[in-house]
Amino acid sequence: MKSRQQIAVFDSGIGGLSVLHEIIKQLPSEQYVYYADTDHLPYGTKTKSEIFDCVNRSVRSLASRNLKALVLACNTATSVAVNELRAQYDFPIIGMEPAVKPAIESSKKQVMVCATDRTIQEPKLHNLITNLDADAKVELRSLQPLVLLAEDFVFDYDRIYPILEKTFKNVDWNNFDYLVLGCTHFIYYKVAMSYYLPPSVKIIDGNLGTANRLRSLIQPSVTNEALQIEYLTSGRVGKLNQFEPYLELLDSI
Ligand code: DGL
Repeated sequence: MKSRQQIAVFDSGIGGLSVLHEIIKQLPSEQYVYYADTDHLPYGTKTKSEIFDCVNRSVRSLASRNLKALVLACNTATSVAVNELRAQYDFPIIGMEPAVKPAIESSKKQVMVCATDRTIQEPKLHNLITNLDADAKVELRSLQPLVLLAEDFVFDYDRIYPILEKTFKNVDWNNFDYLVLGCTHFIYYKVAMSYYLPPSVKIIDGNLGTANRLRSLIQPSVTNEALQIEYLTSGRVGKLNQFEPYLELLDSI
């Protein structure tokens, strides 16, 4: 008998769990494989070709399975590799994009976009902003240090506050009404950021849009079988059983 198809969700580390968490709400009867390239994180400080090689290798190992779809639950990986991957594989590949479009459509002021170092340097994000005719409305900031803090399960406000202070030095938040979280690791800091920002600044991310897109591209399973998530990493023994606490934390965000 042919094994049931899996939906693969991929990230450098635990950031993509925030996307998986959203996907499961919409597609609770699927079988999932979550792959974290923990041997090579963080991606955001690497060159485009280094990230491309890491993503390519990881996706090649996932593609040997019976995949229904692959979600690149990583803005950085998407910005460097999504087009090439789509050309290589037959299953649907859903990428992540900072939610600049919905922010721009609703914003009456300026929009702040936070992402990794690499996402901010890549043309994909700049093209997205230019195509929306929004260059004058958008500011970009890297919050790369939050990636490794999230990996270490550090969420106390005291540790986050100095990073936010340094990153947003000279930002007059009165001029902004949206903060876009353009990295899946940043979702864990939504609460911390809402403490930091004035209440008039709304925080948005691309997770719901990605889950919607996935649902529109696949035939959802109808089964009474319990949800199954298989966790895989490229290395670092001991990481696997650390995933569940992140999913529990996401229940409260
Ligand atoms: N979670 C990833 C993203 O959405 C990458 C974080 C990293 O490895 O630097 O961009």
